[in-house]
Amino acid sequence: MSIIVTAYTESITEEWRKNSRFKMSAKEQNKKDKEITSFIESLKATDTFRYPFIEPESIKNLTIKKIENYKLAMKEKSLKKTKLESSPYRIFIDPMNACNLRCPLCPTGLKKSERKTSIMDFNFFKKIVDEVQEYCIELHLYNWGEPTLHKQLIDMIKYCNDKNIWVRIATNFSLKYKEGYIKDLIHSGLSLLHIDIDGIGQEVYSKYRIRGKYDLVIKNLKETVKIKKESKLKYPLIEIAMLAMKQNEHQHKEFLNFKELGVDIVKIDKIQHNPNMDEGWLPKNKKLIYKMYEG
Ligand SMILES: C[S@@+](CC[C@H](N)C(=O)[O-])C[C@H]1O[C@@H](n2cnc3c(N)ncnc32)[C@H](O)[C@@H]1O
Ligand code: SF4
Repeated sequence: MSIIVTAYTESITEEWRKNSRFKMSAKEQNKKDKEITSFIESLKATDTFRYPFIEPESIKNLTIKKIENYKLAMKEKSLKKTKLESSPYRIFIDPMNACNLRCPLCPTGLKKSERKTSIMDFNFFKKIVDEVQEYCIELHLYNWGEPTLHKQLIDMIKYCNDKNIWVRIATNFSLKYKEGYIKDLIHSGLSLLHIDIDGIGQEVYSKYRIRGKYDLVIKNLKETVKIKKESKLKYPLIEIAMLAMKQNEHQHKEFLNFKELGVDIVKIDKIQHNPNMDEGWLPKNKKLIYKMYEG
């Protein structure tokens, strides 16, 4: 996990200085810089969630207001407050809840979701972002659908980027995108592109990713890496993940070697376990199971 403390500290200090409410002497500024640095250190230390409290790379998008709000949220959390004064610092927005695949443990894939299938209106999206922009540290543009099916996804990402919000999508990437789409995605200001590849080769891959096309995913991935490299961009970070299940457990080691494709992060992700699920999917390695709904 890398946190760019120096770059962050400088930019925050700059903002702090610009703000007339915080006109400080050099000594006071120095004290404040130390406070911010130690706050970041404490963030690293409290990283006990399934997801880190905040994404390490999103630190570059922090502002004083975001930090103050985040600190308040943590305080309210520790006091178990139900009426909150803090605003949301991490937001998930689902651009649409439909999908091209039929993953057997996903309510969308199973068509068992009770939610109405819908496509988010771009103006509505902008309204939400406008409301949260001052405090939102990270925005996850997906939930239970395939975000790249939304025709204005790239505009949504650009909008977040313009508002200084760290933004991530997770995608099955098993779609034939029109010419130039991947280039536009790479240049949209996206912070992290997470691609799910739950098997090596069509046979294992499509056990979970039903209707998915392994070769197409790999083709899209290679094009993404190539464009990012040619454009000399640091972002989006490209993360590929294999959801750990019995069906692909023998491929985990080999998958970790996919780093050689030129991606930034390769992960074996934990599968969610709930008491109603078919245990036939669970990996033998129990550390790779994320348990839910257990009281
Ligand atoms: C529901 S998907 C939506 C985004 C996109 N369609 C995709 O699959 O990447 C969001 C995340 O949930 C993960 N996921 C799907 N089924 C899961 C399961 N049974 N347990 C844990 N995570 C799961 C996916 O791998 C993905 O990273
Ligand atoms: S690709 Fe994502 S949204 Fe679609 S069925 Fe699979 S997990 Fe669900």
